[in-house]
Amino acid sequence: MEGKGNPLLSKEIKAAGGKIYHLSIGEEDLSRLYPGMIRYTLRLDSGGITLALFRTNSYEYSPTVPLNAEKVIRGKAAEWERALMKDPGGFLASVEMPREGVSPVGDVEALIIQGSPRADGNCGIFAGWAADEAANIRKKARVVYLDDLSIHPCIGCYQCYNTGTCTFDDDMTDLIRALRSASLLVICTPVYTNTVPGGLKIFIDRCQAYHAEKNLFTGGGEKKGLLLSVAGRKGTANFTCVKGVVISFMRNLGIRYTGEVLLDGMDNVRDVRTLPGIQGKIGGLVRDAFKR
Ligand SMILES: Cc1cc2nc3c(=O)[nH]c(=O)nc-3n(C[C@H](O)[C@H](O)[C@H](O)COP(=O)(O)O)c2cc1C
Repeated sequence: MEGKGNPLLSKEIKAAGGKIYHLSIGEEDLSRLYPGMIRYTLRLDSGGITLALFRTNSYEYSPTVPLNAEKVIRGKAAEWERALMKDPGGFLASVEMPREGVSPVGDVEALIIQGSPRADGNCGIFAGWAADEAANIRKKARVVYLDDLSIHPCIGCYQCYNTGTCTFDDDMTDLIRALRSASLLVICTPVYTNTVPGGLKIFIDRCQAYHAEKNLFTGGGEKKGLLLSVAGRKGTANFTCVKGVVISFMRNLGIRYTGEVLLDGMDNVRDVRTLPGIQGKIGGLVRDAFKR
């Protein structure tokens, strides 16, 4: 897990009381995820059991911070060594072991995100149609109205690449649990100022923690993704940015984009239910997504 090369540090420590501990720093190159990303893991073992663990990665340190990950991990190792020499019992009682990658999985097969702040608008109708089709084929679906939830925006702390979880524990925790289990993700969104509404963008950015978890800890199964979108103005160009955002979001999470329904000119049409064939088209996309 912590890199195949030589460790940055590997040291036996004879603590106060005579017990022997092993302190090590491993270095992992995570440039497969982000250019130049390095993650360091400081580990304290005794008798083959890990007693304390601390991680940091190079993306945590913004340009104006006079620190870097290697400096921090070496500083932490020195701090641990001093504490062990002085009072091993007190030190070990004070360290928290981070959770590593074993996360609860929901029981949802289709996660349907309704990203419009208008609960009773066209995206709400799309979400209902997708859920109805999932029920028809006996797939457990959950429709989530993002506007009903409390989700803090991502703060770019990159801690999720150390722990696999977000530093915020809010309504997003439950959505990530649902995403873990779902094999289909449906994004329903209106076009707002050429892109997705703010609430949906917050959800998308917070899925970064799932990206970290999936790539560094749990792997995650195969998923498919659909985009159902409406624009007030006429012309398919109105969806350029929404498609870009949603496709890059899904690609980042390894979700295969398998279909879309994009309806423009909705300021004139007003109600998607007046357009023939749309419900059937959405139903077909949901059905196909569950075929092998
Ligand atoms: C704040 C805001 C920004 C919008 N920006 C655009 C836009 O850039 N392009 C467009 O075609 N429609 C835009 N619309 C219109 C919505 O896409 C349209 O009303 C849509 O049908 C709403 O979907 P809903 O019924 O699911 O809420 C905007 C609407 C709002 C409220």
